[in-house]
Amino acid sequence: MRSLLWLAVVGLAVAEDGLAAWLRYARVPGASRHLGKLPSAVVTLNATKGYPVHTAGQELVDGIGGLFGKKLTVAKSKPKGTTATVGTVSAYVDKNPSAAKGLPDLVEDGFYLKISKGNVLILGQNERGALYGAFHYLSVIAQGNVSDFTLTSNPDAPVRWVNQWDNMQDGGTHGSVERGYGGDSIFFWDGHIREDLTRAGQYARLLASIGINAVVANNVNANASILTPENMDGLARIADVFRPYGVQLGVSLNFAAPQLLGGLDTFDPLDKAVVNWWQGIADNLYKRIPDMAGYLVKANSEGQPGPMTYNRTLADGANLFARTLQPHGGIILFRAFVYDHRSLNQTLDWKADRANAAVDYFDGLDDKFEDNVVIQIKYGPIDFQVREPVSPLFTHLRRTGATVELQITQEYLGQQAHVVYLAPMWKELLDFDLRVDSKPSTLKSIVSGKRFGQKLTGYAGVVNVGTNTTWLGSHLAMSNLYAYGKLAWDPEQTSTGILKEWTTLTFGHDKLVHDVITKISMESWPAYEDYSGNLGIQTLTDILLGHYGPNPGSQDGNPWGQWTRADDDTIGMDRTVWNGTGFAGQYPPEIAAMYENIETTPDNLLLWFHHVPYTQKLKSGKTVIQHFYDAHYKGSATAQTFVTLWEKLKGRIDKERYEHVLFRLIYQAGHSLVWRDSVNQFYFNKSGIPDELGRVGNHKYRIEAEEMELKGYKSYRVSPFEAASGYHCVVTETNSTVGTATTKLKVPSGKYDLAVNYYDMALGNSTWELFVDRKLVGKWKGDLEYELGRAPSPYIDGQTAARKTFRGVRVKKGSELKVVGRPDGLEPAPIDYISVLPEGTVD
Ligand code: GCU
Repeated sequence: MRSLLWLAVVGLAVAEDGLAAWLRYARVPGASRHLGKLPSAVVTLNATKGYPVHTAGQELVDGIGGLFGKKLTVAKSKPKGTTATVGTVSAYVDKNPSAAKGLPDLVEDGFYLKISKGNVLILGQNERGALYGAFHYLSVIAQGNVSDFTLTSNPDAPVRWVNQWDNMQDGGTHGSVERGYGGDSIFFWDGHIREDLTRAGQYARLLASIGINAVVANNVNANASILTPENMDGLARIADVFRPYGVQLGVSLNFAAPQLLGGLDTFDPLDKAVVNWWQGIADNLYKRIPDMAGYLVKANSEGQPGPMTYNRTLADGANLFARTLQPHGGIILFRAFVYDHRSLNQTLDWKADRANAAVDYFDGLDDKFEDNVVIQIKYGPIDFQVREPVSPLFTHLRRTGATVELQITQEYLGQQAHVVYLAPMWKELLDFDLRVDSKPSTLKSIVSGKRFGQKLTGYAGVVNVGTNTTWLGSHLAMSNLYAYGKLAWDPEQTSTGILKEWTTLTFGHDKLVHDVITKISMESWPAYEDYSGNLGIQTLTDILLGHYGPNPGSQDGNPWGQWTRADDDTIGMDRTVWNGTGFAGQYPPEIAAMYENIETTPDNLLLWFHHVPYTQKLKSGKTVIQHFYDAHYKGSATAQTFVTLWEKLKGRIDKERYEHVLFRLIYQAGHSLVWRDSVNQFYFNKSGIPDELGRVGNHKYRIEAEEMELKGYKSYRVSPFEAASGYHCVVTETNSTVGTATTKLKVPSGKYDLAVNYYDMALGNSTWELFVDRKLVGKWKGDLEYELGRAPSPYIDGQTAARKTFRGVRVKKGSELKVVGRPDGLEPAPIDYISVLPEGTVD
């Protein structure tokens, strides 16, 4: 008995580690009152083990069992009492021919639900649709709604794919998952497909519950070895664990594989031997995986091989694969993210512009693609930035279908160490009207295929989950994955509506929990934009290294093309036709005219389209530079409130997830100040224009570590300069010397919040101790590289800068403040400054 109890407790704890995400099936409040409104048995029509209808039956049993404590039986034919009947429309009509007339039209993957007095009818256009219907019903009752309803639900678009950027092995510059912040790949290890694919199956279950129908498991920067016979066998095993959930497998290809793997002396897409080689690959894959979804291809981009290597067009490249897939019914998603990061010259060419590349390369190809080619286009012309205009390429493809590529993994948006709820940003993009032929042409109407009438269109989301039980490295980040699936199914849903559903399923029904999560989430994208890069200048993160911390200078002076063209007086990319790169002219005339004119360009994209003086007035009346300063103060102030908001939830959700989120929010609050100060200091130094409110560069509560009395520590000039207050920090003299930094406080006696800014590099786990009058206030360890999933860094810079705050510490005038730093490995226990803040003040 005791061990059973113990197991129950452990079971509960395990259940709240995030693994079950929104499919927890946790008991609904007042469950016993609703039992009469629920089915008593499940009838599965046309169910074969290992296929979605069978899975749907199982989910209904597990779901109703967990949510309401009602144990259902599974029957093949109609038992007594209320039932949940689930299957395909055709199986249902076979059994009940007279029912056919009353059923609605369903498109592929669509479903029909009829709930009446405890009887539930769930019909799918196909098996997958039936499973989607079952998940939908379970989601509705999990939210406490057991009333009768009828629903017909069809997906907005047929392609609803997930891309994982998983590498075949760990190592290199990107580790196991490129731009992944939730641990190692759940699919691959050591060059092979993992033996244990339990997590891959669990992932498919989560994805099916939000309507995702395919996953490309390997990185777009593909390793040709994915196509060895052994690895093809492994891919077949992944497809096997996906199949019960109706999730199909897609494979990402390396264009040069015929040479790299096949031993041919060319990979020219028009070469006969190359064509035959690829046909053999397709045949071999489909022999193993008859229901394979198809391919994803990144070609001629960022050093990847492609058709242009042989002066062939992108269409020649895409069609090569498309034709080999046609006999098998597969499709190819060919990426529009094509640009040459080596040839762009910022200094010599005012008109050079990476943003132009996609439309330039795809120009004239619209009617050249095979019917099973879909062009996968990132939402913006550059690269998943915090604010970009919708890519104009969507308006150039009228015959060939497109998918919009969204990024769930927050590569440029805080890497899951910052909470940024992305649905509001995606909604803005999807709702944007591109005015093709002066007619309504929202992005969502284009990617649904409705605007131009293509058959194959939709959504591709770069997710990059890992082995971490939270999947993405943070519990709150999972609302983005949920929202991605929901919007791909129905882009009319609202950001707050989706969030409400997700919160109930993930954290329960408590109103305060809902209020807090809604407030934090809905304020998070604007806050992040405010404290990173605003007015369309992009995120201003370090684009040469981890894409995480601030480094505004890294944007310019290199061929990557994410330029801001900031100099001492002016800033922004001139993308006008009359004087700039001409990018604005890639849009249909009404939109082109809007962006061409500085007066009609929205402020939030001003610097995306125009090169202006720092003193340029915005529509708000503020200058560009003052807006920068103010926005950075405002955004980081908002991030501080996330901590206090979350603290209200203590005791209202399980401790494990409460602490996990709190830790990240405290970190984010500190790092948002690093962002604020780095960006403001950088532009203040460049422009020489002071902040009207006198904040930038003036930090009256700060004590610079390099100005304290140092023993074993020495001053160190930080690069980039703006990543340190006063441009310097202190580091220990050697990596075995203990450092102390001491000072006498001049503040009046009282209670203060003591904040220590330090750097936590991925080179060791230094420890720091903070003392007031020799009394230990607290100590901490530099192990954020293990605690946070964000890209690790070996440098003292804006990426590794962090803050530790001790609240409500009593000090006296003249107290001795001392930090002791113990280096570890090659990490020299760096300290930037200490703020002695009157309680409640933040700086
Ligand atoms: C970004 C990202 C790369 C990725 C590329 C892509 O540039 O940083 O890691 O490979 O996008 O989408 O192909």
